[in-house]
Amino acid sequence: MRKPAETSVPVATAIAERWSPRAYDETATITDAQLTALLEAARWAPSFGNTQPARYLVGRRGDQAFARILAALNSGNQAWAFRASALLVGVMVTTNEKGEVPYAEYGLGLASENLVLQAVDLGLIGHQMAGFSPDAVRTSFGLPEDAIPRVAIAVGSAADASVLDDPKRVERELAPRRRLPLAEFAFGDGWGTPAL
Ligand SMILES: Cc1cc2nc3c(=O)[nH]c(=O)nc-3n(C[C@H](O)[C@H](O)[C@H](O)COP(=O)(O)O)c2cc1C
Repeated sequence: MRKPAETSVPVATAIAERWSPRAYDETATITDAQLTALLEAARWAPSFGNTQPARYLVGRRGDQAFARILAALNSGNQAWAFRASALLVGVMVTTNEKGEVPYAEYGLGLASENLVLQAVDLGLIGHQMAGFSPDAVRTSFGLPEDAIPRVAIAVGSAADASVLDDPKRVERELAPRRRLPLAEFAFGDGWGTPAL
């Protein structure tokens, strides 16, 4: 299913087509080449002083890493994310040899958006999640103290909304996407004065 962004002018295809679906095809797999492309896209994100704070834990459906990440998700996310072809956790490394890494969370965010946009470009879908237990991830993957799990990401292939079973979940899947109007988003002469 597609839910392209309604934009006032055309934007890059992957940006327009990206959304956060929950209906995944539970038979679909992801290839190593696809996973590599996702991680390469994330690896080449910009970061403060090129400090590169982003790291990823990667599980493919059926392997141990996938099971550990799935177990760390909250129950609402588990209910749909088990069908994903891959589950990842974005981790920010908060220190380096110079001390605290500035803008580490910002860097992880940039990398993760690159990752989901690359998924769209490959004809896949991606969905970022804050609903998981960082402590469970820390324990099950043996993370050092300065590595903070910040976001889980489901990646896979789209399925019909009906796989979600529950009518309320199907309704949410089909609901229109909303954003603030551009006039409330970008300001020119003063705060609140539309830039365009
Ligand atoms: C940091 C972050 C955390 C999110 N956490 C969850 C989550 O735990 N569960 C979920 O179903 N969606 C989650 N989402 C998806 C958002 O709800 C979604 O991006 C937002 O509603 C906008 O919809 P769109 O991505 O389809 O444009 C998260 C998104 C981000 C960026």
